[in-house]
Amino acid sequence: MARVFVTRAVPGDALERLRSAHEVRVWDGALPPEPAVLREALAEVEGLLCLLTERVDAALLDSAPRLRAIANYAVGTDNIDLELTAARGIGVGVTPDVLTEATADLAFALLLAAARRLPQAAADARGGAWRTWEPARWLGAEVDGGALGIVGFGRIGRAVARRAHGFRMTVRSTADTDLDELLACSDYVSLHVPLTPRTRHLIDAAALKRMRPTAVLVNTSRGAVIDQRALIDALRSGEIAAAAIDVTDPEPPPPGDPIYETPNLLVVPHIGSATRAARARMTELAVENLLAGLEGRPMPHPAG
Ligand code: DGY
Repeated sequence: MARVFVTRAVPGDALERLRSAHEVRVWDGALPPEPAVLREALAEVEGLLCLLTERVDAALLDSAPRLRAIANYAVGTDNIDLELTAARGIGVGVTPDVLTEATADLAFALLLAAARRLPQAAADARGGAWRTWEPARWLGAEVDGGALGIVGFGRIGRAVARRAHGFRMTVRSTADTDLDELLACSDYVSLHVPLTPRTRHLIDAAALKRMRPTAVLVNTSRGAVIDQRALIDALRSGEIAAAAIDVTDPEPPPPGDPIYETPNLLVVPHIGSATRAARARMTELAVENLLAGLEGRPMPHPAG
């Protein structure tokens, strides 16, 4: 029987399977454990189920000499130093596939909301500004038949493309089109790349300048794929029309961050995989990964 630390209560009942095989401690705070607290909690554990809020770096691994299996409750792994875990022989598992459709749904919901200016329209309706049917107010962009550029054509990018075909959109991606050209010829741009040193600030001031002044930018990948300061400037100056983002850099943005005051910017709190079904399945995959890793079997859903 191994000792396992779980850094937050996670949905679904799959943790029971883990509990029947191992000694499991679940952090019961609403916020993630502070790094020092987490380091202390890991002193004796062999297994870790962590979230994207936990940074698995040298300091953390140094404090966990017995650790041999990590299940990340996410498909992304930018919170984990994978070179270091590999060098130390620690298996890392992720939760692919089960969140693909939920995340693609959210990307499309953001695209539609930004195109049709739903946040502004809803706020006006609640605020008493809906006095009559107005022919020239709350006008947005047509999505049907628009040109969609998908940056990153993995599982989630392809799932977004399937939705776009239902809207008769012209779909291009970085799998077939150079990024600069894709940005220049798209009405909508949706980001689906993992965060790596190569994709950090992929959408910077120069990239934003290449986009159409009518374009809508959607991000459900990782906040740091966009240079956030450059995005705020581009929206303020009207270089692009709107953006809708599920992810920010940092998360959450601190109170008073200019992101909350930027026009035509819809921000939601990293909810791409937040359906009851996807989150319960993520728990199942994380548990399968840990059970395998702790038994010395290959993880069914390894990172990388
Ligand atoms: C992931 O899995 O990487 C998402 O960002 C959270 O579900």
